[in-house]
Amino acid sequence: MTNYTKKELLDILKENSQNDWLFSHANKVRQENVGDEIHLRGLIEFSNICKNSCKYCGLRCANKNIERYRLSIEQITKDAQNAINLGYKTIVLQSGEDEAYTTKDICKIIENIKNFDVALTLSIGERSFQDYKEFKNAGADRYLIRIETTDENLYKKMHPYMSFENRLRCLKDLKKLGYEVGTGCLVGLPEQTFESLVNDILFFKDIDADMIGIGPFISHPQTPLANAKNGDFTLALKVMALTRLLLPDINIPATTAMETINPNGRIIALQSGANVIMPNVTTCQYQEKYEIYPNKSHSTSIEYTRQNIENIIKSIGRSISATKGFHNKKLN
Ligand code: 5AD
Repeated sequence: MTNYTKKELLDILKENSQNDWLFSHANKVRQENVGDEIHLRGLIEFSNICKNSCKYCGLRCANKNIERYRLSIEQITKDAQNAINLGYKTIVLQSGEDEAYTTKDICKIIENIKNFDVALTLSIGERSFQDYKEFKNAGADRYLIRIETTDENLYKKMHPYMSFENRLRCLKDLKKLGYEVGTGCLVGLPEQTFESLVNDILFFKDIDADMIGIGPFISHPQTPLANAKNGDFTLALKVMALTRLLLPDINIPATTAMETINPNGRIIALQSGANVIMPNVTTCQYQEKYEIYPNKSHSTSIEYTRQNIENIIKSIGRSISATKGFHNKKLN
């Protein structure tokens, strides 16, 4: 593993002359450490109802212009079963922070899905230590909760009524409870600096993350950031590639946001350090309603989505993993 100083990371981020080297080096480090197999995580976006009001997110509760939905325990279980029948080895349950699901409800969903031979990831936001503990005891394996930005001032501006300290507390609790923990950041938020992006990358290393998801900020018309400019694809890719260099053996998804702002974004990301894709396996009629940002891809058939992704993976000489794709820690 390579060690970089803050100054070196900053220079690489600011300068574009080393980009080709960075992307091909990250690709090589990915290949040497996690191999050519790609892990597919079937994503179920089970509720777009959220009590928070993150400035950038289309699901913010202040947005009255979206049709809200909430899937039943039975429907979520069915969606998971369909995805598992197609070969998915991990199911990710994601939602807004929707308090209608009790701790018991979430545990029931986890138990239903863990009856099948799959790994289960939760991405349902900030909860208490006790809740995280109960989810873990019910069978949850992993948890995704992005720090979004480590710049505390920016964090405050972007997340009214939320606290950076509580976000950190969640990440630490999850680690303590033995989850595989995924976090990540947005690239290109208004007023975000190169320095803060470097701090984000160093933070990922500091907390010993198992997964890191990085995506460009995409401006949503029904948010206070409607007039802000989108994050830059190349800069987001650079943050992702540097994360691969600093954390060589972790799992890194080619995020949907990358694909949304660049038509080849997913393939480019897979060739610049990423080794995971998270295809949407939610009942198709709900997919377009989970509009965290505009033009997010949605499909008319989860079978078609799977086929399409298999073709893309084959076309770049890679293959789909038949395992659950846990983080295989190497001693560096
Ligand atoms: N652009 C890009 N990513 C977004 N997210 C939320 N809103 C946006 C947006 N407008 C990301 C956040 C969150 C993840 C589920 O989606 O980083 O953690």
